[in-house]
Amino acid sequence: MEFSIAQLIESRKSEQYPLHLKYINAPLARVQSIIGFDKPYVRGEGAYLWDADGNRYLDLLTGHSTFNLGRNHPVIRQVMHEMLDLDRPNLVKMDCPLLAGLLAERLAQKMPADLEAVFFGNSGADAIDTALKFARAATRRPRILYLDHAFHGLTLGTLPINGGAVFRDGFGPLMPGCEPLEMNDLKTLERELSKGDVAAFVVEPIQGKGVYIPQDGYLPEAQRLCNKYGTLLIADEVQVGMGRTGRFLSCEHWELKPDIVTLAKSLSGGYIPVSATITNRRIHDKTFSRLDRCQVHSTTFGQNDMAMAAGLATLYVMDEEKLVERAATMGDMLIKGLSDLKKRHALIQDVRGKGLMIGIEFSPQGSLGLKAAWTAAETAQKGLFAQLVVMALMRDHRILTQVGGPGVNIIKLLPPLIIGEQEVDLIISAFDKVLAEAAHVSGRVWSLSGQLIKQALSQ
Ligand SMILES: Cc1ncc(COP(=O)(O)O)c(C=O)c1O
Repeated sequence: MEFSIAQLIESRKSEQYPLHLKYINAPLARVQSIIGFDKPYVRGEGAYLWDADGNRYLDLLTGHSTFNLGRNHPVIRQVMHEMLDLDRPNLVKMDCPLLAGLLAERLAQKMPADLEAVFFGNSGADAIDTALKFARAATRRPRILYLDHAFHGLTLGTLPINGGAVFRDGFGPLMPGCEPLEMNDLKTLERELSKGDVAAFVVEPIQGKGVYIPQDGYLPEAQRLCNKYGTLLIADEVQVGMGRTGRFLSCEHWELKPDIVTLAKSLSGGYIPVSATITNRRIHDKTFSRLDRCQVHSTTFGQNDMAMAAGLATLYVMDEEKLVERAATMGDMLIKGLSDLKKRHALIQDVRGKGLMIGIEFSPQGSLGLKAAWTAAETAQKGLFAQLVVMALMRDHRILTQVGGPGVNIIKLLPPLIIGEQEVDLIISAFDKVLAEAAHVSGRVWSLSGQLIKQALSQ
């Protein structure tokens, strides 16, 4: 009997939404159709997606920063084919696989100072769970500090350090001893650290939810305080690492030397789930402290050959195509272009970012009618204006973007690092047109508001 995945896709292609409504996350499927994101994509290449009718979409979501190399990069694809043809003895388990060693070696070369001991997992949350366990084992302390607005994953181990109530609510009681701090508040940080019972301070050097960037002196001083009081600094680079911000790690912007770094998402070029928790030998050895504890932390698919090969190929492509430098150059160009729009569009309150991690924040500026429409939209749903812009960018310009967090009027852009001037121009021109329309309450952007509320209510 022959099984062809291509034939299966072809024969069932009209059923993706009904299948999700019946068997997977029905509310998520409904939201996608309400906001006009229910496109029947059939192909992805580079920075673009195509639907069944041949329409092309510019992808500024990149699977939440999983496709930094663009989709279906030919080098990673060729390596995947090569791996399948090699019939490797994958996941022997009582074994030390070569490819994991090679990828660990390459990652260690890219890390600050002495970070050279690597644990491979399967997801960002998995990497953070690992970092928290390592920190507890190394310090024998119970507490964890994190920042307001933080996002480190949605497992039960990462929820207690999630800065968004909407994610935590309904899943308690959560692990005790985890406390939020405000970004840039060094006084409270020192007060908490000085109690001497904090295992780790976990930070995304640039926060994904809202694209919040700390003041320049904050992270270096936080690191100094962590060192002073024996607390480990964990840099969560799951979204902002891998070149996204114009440095391989975003913490390089402040020359930080964290004790633990986490990577995931784009590490395999988007082909295979993978994560890495990278620390120094001393910290690593506190978990794997004796021969009989050598498997005290582990996950079945960690170190799997396909992920390791994809990781090695990804780092090769990043170097060959100078993607970190490209992210810095294209990011500067895009941030400048969007900032220039601020002069013409009062609705833009702020454009911020580093490299190709960019946030555009809106506020109600303009006519009285516009302010009233904004207030009505906010009353119906917080962050609704940003959602309307996201919908208009999709409907009128076939550009995929996202609202930058729950209930905020911020749009986050995460373009693939391969974009060029053509894409930068496209993005700026699309924002220009959508915001020009959004300044008129009777225009096409605000008409989406009524539609959205009606459809949400009818569902
Ligand atoms: C900064 C950060 N950490 C951790 C995670 C969790 O990663 P995953 O969804 O792979 O578990 C995410 C996911 O978006 C993230 O942005």
